[in-house]
Amino acid sequence: MHGLLSLPLLCLSLAFMARPMTAAPAPAIAIDTTSFSTYFRYAAIAYSSDISAYGTWSCPLCLDASIRDTTNVTFTPSPDDAQEQGYIAVSPSLKTIIFAVRGSRTVEEWLNNLQIWKRALPITNRPTGVEVHSGFWDVWAQLRPIMEPTLARHLNANPGYTVTFVGHSLGGAVTQLAAVDFAARGIVPASNAQLITFGQPRVGSIEFSQYFGKLGFKQVVRVINKSDIVPVEQAFFHLPPAFLDYRHQYHEYWINKSGVLITNCNDDTNGKEATNCANTQITKLSVPDHLSYFGISLPK
Ligand SMILES: *[C@@H]1O[C@H](CO)[C@@H](O)[C@H](O)[C@H]1NC(C)=O
Ligand SMILES: *[C@@H]1O[C@H](CO)[C@@H](O)[C@H](O)[C@H]1NC(C)=O
Ligand SMILES: *[C@@H]1O[C@H](CO)[C@@H](O)[C@H](O)[C@H]1NC(C)=O
Repeated sequence: MHGLLSLPLLCLSLAFMARPMTAAPAPAIAIDTTSFSTYFRYAAIAYSSDISAYGTWSCPLCLDASIRDTTNVTFTPSPDDAQEQGYIAVSPSLKTIIFAVRGSRTVEEWLNNLQIWKRALPITNRPTGVEVHSGFWDVWAQLRPIMEPTLARHLNANPGYTVTFVGHSLGGAVTQLAAVDFAARGIVPASNAQLITFGQPRVGSIEFSQYFGKLGFKQVVRVINKSDIVPVEQAFFHLPPAFLDYRHQYHEYWINKSGVLITNCNDDTNGKEATNCANTQITKLSVPDHLSYFGISLPK
C-alpha cells in the first residue's frame, strides 16, 4: 500500500514540471448549470445505502422537485458485497433513462481499488491500443450481468427515450465503460445516449479516448469542481496519470476557483486534454472539492 502512495507525489512533480508557462485566459460563456446539478443529484443518489428508499424514491436527495417525478427505479446491489452498486430509473420530464453507478467516497477505498494497469477493452473490432484501466473494468464486469437486462427492460418500456449515463468519481469511470460497452455492442445507439460525469478519473489510453470520441454520443459532459490542494487527491482527478498513457475524454466543464463554470475548455475528441481548465490546477487539488458539487453532498 505504501508503495502506491508515492505515485501521486511522483505524478504531481512530473505534472508540475510539464505545466505550460503561460496560458492565455479564455473567455467564459455563461450557461445555466441547472441541468448539471440535476444530473449530479442522480449521480450522488447512487451512493445511498438506504436500499429501501430507491423503490419509493424517498431518499433526501430524491425529494428535490427537479427529480421528483423519477419512476420505475431498479436498484442493483453489489454482487460481491463490495462497494459497487448502481440503479436504473426513468425520468418522464427529461424523457431519459437514468443509468447511475456509485463512486468511491474515501481515499482509502480509492487506493484499494487502484489496479492501474491497463487491459485491452474486451469489445470485438475495437482498434489496436484501445486499453482501459483494469480495476474500473472489473467493477463494470461485476455489475453488467445485472444491469444490462434491467436497462433492456427500461428501453422496451420507454421507446424514444434517451439514456443518460451518470456517475461521480469511480462511478463516472465505470458508467463511461458501461456507455462504451452498450454503444459498441449496439444495445444503446450512442446517438441516443449521453454521458455526464463529475470528478471522474481517466479511464483509458489515448487510443481509447479517440475511440470514445468517434462513437458519436449525443452529449458528453465531464464536470470538474476545483479549488485548493491536498496532493493525494491527485488520485481523484489526475490519476491514472497522463505519463502512463492515460487520457481524459472530451468534453471538460470546469468550475474555476471563483465558482464560474468554464464551458470553453480546449480539449477535443481526438484525445487532447484541455490546457486551460482543470489541468491548470494540477498542484492545487482538494478532497472537499471532490465530495461536493453544486452545494450537494454525497449521501451516507
Ligand atoms: C414502469 O413499469 C411498469 C410496470 O412494468 C410499466 O407498465 C410502465 O410502463 C413503466 N413506466 C415507465 C415510465 O417506464
Ligand atoms: C473564473 O472565471 C471567470 C470568468 O472567466 C473569471 O472572471 C475569474 O477571474 C476566474 N477566477 C479565477 C480565480 O481565475
Ligand atoms: C466546489 O467544492 C466546494 C467545496 O470545496 C463546494 O462548497 C462547492 O459547492 C463546489 N462548487 C460547485 C459549483 O460545485
